[in-house]
Amino acid sequence: MAFMIPVERVVSAEFRGEAMDLMMARDAVIEAIAKVADIGEMARDGVGLRLRVGTEACVRLLVGAPAQPKASAAGTYTVTLIAEETAGLSSDQVQAILAAVRRIPFTTTEMNALRGQMPLTGELPGFLPPRCLSSVAPVLTVHHMTDFLVMVEAVLAMGVPAQAITVLDKGYPYQHTDRVDAHLAKQGIAVWPWADAANALDDHTRRAAALGLRGLLIDDGGYTLPVLLEQRPDLLSHFIGLVEQTISGITRLEPWEGRIPAPIFSVAESRLKATVECYGIADAAIRNLLRLLPEEKLEGQPALVVGFGRIGEHVADVLRSRRMRVAVHDRQLVRLIAAHERGYLTSRCVSTLLRDHRPLLVVGCTGRTGLRGEHAAAIGRDCYLVSTTSRNREFAVAELEQEARQVTDEGVLGTRLHLQSGARVTLVGDGFPINFHHAESLPNMYSDLILASLLVAASTLAAPDHGFAAGHNVTASNRVLESCGLLERYYARFGPESGR
Ligand SMILES: NC(=O)c1ccc[n+]([C@@H]2O[C@H](COP(=O)([O-])OP(=O)(O)OC[C@H]3O[C@@H](n4cnc5c(N)ncnc54)[C@H](O)[C@@H]3O)[C@@H](O)[C@H]2O)c1
Repeated sequence: MAFMIPVERVVSAEFRGEAMDLMMARDAVIEAIAKVADIGEMARDGVGLRLRVGTEACVRLLVGAPAQPKASAAGTYTVTLIAEETAGLSSDQVQAILAAVRRIPFTTTEMNALRGQMPLTGELPGFLPPRCLSSVAPVLTVHHMTDFLVMVEAVLAMGVPAQAITVLDKGYPYQHTDRVDAHLAKQGIAVWPWADAANALDDHTRRAAALGLRGLLIDDGGYTLPVLLEQRPDLLSHFIGLVEQTISGITRLEPWEGRIPAPIFSVAESRLKATVECYGIADAAIRNLLRLLPEEKLEGQPALVVGFGRIGEHVADVLRSRRMRVAVHDRQLVRLIAAHERGYLTSRCVSTLLRDHRPLLVVGCTGRTGLRGEHAAAIGRDCYLVSTTSRNREFAVAELEQEARQVTDEGVLGTRLHLQSGARVTLVGDGFPINFHHAESLPNMYSDLILASLLVAASTLAAPDHGFAAGHNVTASNRVLESCGLLERYYARFGPESGR
């Protein structure tokens, strides 16, 4: 077996495009490799391109059509990188070189397809006043999914130069996250990791000031304004406001209630978002779960939904429509009764439901921490814990791990806790929100309305006479979103007149 390359040194990725994109893909991979180590001699042979890397290492790059074109979408190409010889490279360098294959910017074919999926966002610059964002420098903390690229194009078309944009990468393992990063980098946009938000905001403020612009935060989960409030209050006056997409971002601001110095446009709490997006998220969450558990039978099995809010009630409905026997717990009595009235089994005590209902699936939708170490004693069977909440706060992972006699890594599925009782509890996606776990969450046709709403919100705050007060503006946010024309365009696209 001496001829075999270790499997961990072979990686492949796919893209869609035309024959001319093969060269672009090859060059993008070579460029990404060159950032890791010097590239020496390059030679073509019968099986692709062979590159000398560093002093002694050697990689082979192959770009071509898949052997079974009918098994892939039309116009699919495959890129494969093989680290044939790694002498002289550290293991980190080898990993970074192999990752180069995932850093191919999106092709024209792919971007055209994305624009077609997202007309509300893509065409928004034509519906708003020309260059309506030209006075601001936005910090965008939005999921690195393909829909984001159409949003960024719209931001550029609204008069923002690329060098005035900062993107914070939330670091979830989205399906195309490296490609999205590479695409943004190609456009000259600064991308920072979320954990380095304070430095990113400092750098952003300086770049914006040099361009004579003021900052605007467009956030999905409270990654920026809380950082300014906690760590860099000196920068606050450089930002005109915050557009927040999700409830956890609003929750993060609770400690400053009544003391928030900038206006907030809350797409998060809007009726528009609650009406359209929640079902989509619930559906995307369960679809991705099913993809990760192809052998599992959910029908007829017990499930427990913790948190019966906007997302939780749709998760419960989706699970019931998949014929699960669904129980619900919510700490607010009014929401518990809402679940009861809808025919769900309910209890004021989550441990009682864990012990007596014996759920195969526990879906956390509280946005806080719905399950703690103390609840482990009530789990009497093998089950899956699934979160829909930002980052990994839905389940107190460290506390639950302390209750386990062993913790095992289950690859893409997540982490498994082997409890003292013998029950095996699988923390799917390691407790991070399931709809982003190596996935693209909602179809772009859904997220189109939400991302377009974020830009309507941004253009509102960018106007000098916006009339939004410092702090929360839920009523005003609803008024703008429901009168800006987006809902009309959405209804024309998907309502009863669509397709005529
Ligand atoms: N995964 C995604 O794509 C996605 C999208 C949007 C929102 N979210 C996140 O989902 C979470 C929920 O959002 P939402 O809009 O449904 O919020 P929500 O406020 O409408 O609902 C949360 C519910 O959980 C209940 N709750 C809170 N803490 C609890 C606890 N410890 N035990 C039991 N019940 C508890 C609340 O009473 C409330 O009814 C938020 O973190 C939000 O940011 C995720």
